[in-house]
Amino acid sequence: SMALLRLRHRELRDGIVAGRSEAVARQHRLGKRTARERLDLLLDEDSFTEIEMYRRHRGQDLTARDERPYTDGVVAGSGTVDGRRVFVYAQDFTIFGGSLGESHAAKIHKVMDLALATGSPLIALNDSGGARIQEGVTALDGYGGIFRRNVAASGVIPQISVVLGPCAGGAAYSPALTDFTFMVHGTAQMYLTGPDVVAAVSGQRVTHAELGGAEVHGSRSGVATFVHDDEESCFADLRYLLSLLPGNNLEPPPDGPPRGAAGDLRPRLAEIVPVEPNRPYDMGEVVAELVDDGEFLEIGEGWARNVVCALARIDGRVVGLVGNQPMVLAGALDAAAAQKAARFVRFCDAFGIPLVTLVDVPGFLPGTDQEHSGIIRHGAKLLYAYCEATVPRIQVIVRKAYGGAYIVMDSRSIGTDVSLAWPTNEIAVMGAEGAVNVVHRRELAAAEDPAALRARLVREYTERLVHPHYAAERGLVDDVIDPVETRAAVARWLAALADKRAAQPQRKHGNIPL
Ligand code: COA
Repeated sequence: SMALLRLRHRELRDGIVAGRSEAVARQHRLGKRTARERLDLLLDEDSFTEIEMYRRHRGQDLTARDERPYTDGVVAGSGTVDGRRVFVYAQDFTIFGGSLGESHAAKIHKVMDLALATGSPLIALNDSGGARIQEGVTALDGYGGIFRRNVAASGVIPQISVVLGPCAGGAAYSPALTDFTFMVHGTAQMYLTGPDVVAAVSGQRVTHAELGGAEVHGSRSGVATFVHDDEESCFADLRYLLSLLPGNNLEPPPDGPPRGAAGDLRPRLAEIVPVEPNRPYDMGEVVAELVDDGEFLEIGEGWARNVVCALARIDGRVVGLVGNQPMVLAGALDAAAAQKAARFVRFCDAFGIPLVTLVDVPGFLPGTDQEHSGIIRHGAKLLYAYCEATVPRIQVIVRKAYGGAYIVMDSRSIGTDVSLAWPTNEIAVMGAEGAVNVVHRRELAAAEDPAALRARLVREYTERLVHPHYAAERGLVDDVIDPVETRAAVARWLAALADKRAAQPQRKHGNIPL
């Protein structure tokens, strides 16, 4: 009867299923929420509609045959975030440790298919003991189906992973295939082989957190894009991220109303950046002056901090900003920074988000560590990503741009649409001291007063080559602007380039150096 139906629905929704209250209490003791509580935090009130609530495992495998809980440990469906459609699944650790069996996987596959078919972002809330051991290879088959769908959806809909508990073994590969991964301190763990296996194989004793906690992945491995102290702030940031993303690659980004930025002068910009080429400052402060309301979402804040990647709006338009960070490694590019920026550039390009590149780079980080770790391959990723990007691209050279790093940071030669430079800046193959030592080595060695000669040569080199007008006269810089006009100039160019369309070459796909 209808009354029974309603009762059953409520039982399922509220998790009042025999024997589960202890598992729920344990979840809460660990500072974790249940799958449905998490959906409540993420989605607009009353917006969730669920698929396959009654699905459960077949009871033919080793799984305690008499225990066949509904949902099979994952809650899946659709809802809205600030009124915009998303599809989501949330693993329920209180049922079989959120482990993934055949039915569990089938529900995830279905919700992924619906997200792709409707062109809506997909959000995965991971909290799981991994492949359900009792279901054998069917569980592994379930993972493969998730990975294949992650890849099919890549660049078509935004895919976001939230890791709120264990996410180990093969399970860790789905977050790695998605666009962004959130982790929560203390509860989230990601690794391919756990501490027990590590100890057995290598004798090394390591805790879950040391091996693959949020701290490790947010700052050392770069596996986590966002790291949070608790689930509330994690979901708040996730909602903020979604507010900056289109639903799919055919939809324009969610631009807001124009903010009169084309006439907005920013005197602070002239104060933030020191004229002396080697004095550090925070590129984040420059970003804050350029974007609407000084608000931006930094991507991968804790990893490869020598490059800043951020999503924000300028004059209402969603943009992706990439900037060298002089506070860390003097802003030099290293392997990690190149990988971080390359992935961000490709994300923005896939989803039609214009790129604003803020250049203040002394070069690539020198040293055997870097060369031996393959900085050539990794730097090439960033170069490739820019060369390939067809979204509107604006380069702003705020202080210095030297050598190969100048080329890579969205120079004219690799396809930026517009290059703007501040008058104080230095663009050249190398700094004046280094250049003079190479070019005038013999004269300096023979000179009676090498110091005086070097000073004169450095002055000459600087006057002739190391200023933006040299580049501007050769068409490599479109305009030399007063720093205070930067926000206005970028806003004007974003408007001018808004309808940019670019033809794609006919090929299966390129071969980005991975
Ligand atoms: N398959 C089947 N059941 C699983 C499972 C899995 N992969 N992972 C966890 N569970 C079950 C547990 O048996 C337990 O069931 P119970 O409540 O009936 O006793 C329940 O989920 C909770 O797990 P528990 O081990 O008590 O939680 P924990 O927080 O102490 O530990 C893990 C969490 C993930 C570290 C631990 O469960 C684990 O090591 N699981 C196996 C991981 C693995 O090797 N997966 C397969 C490879 S991908």
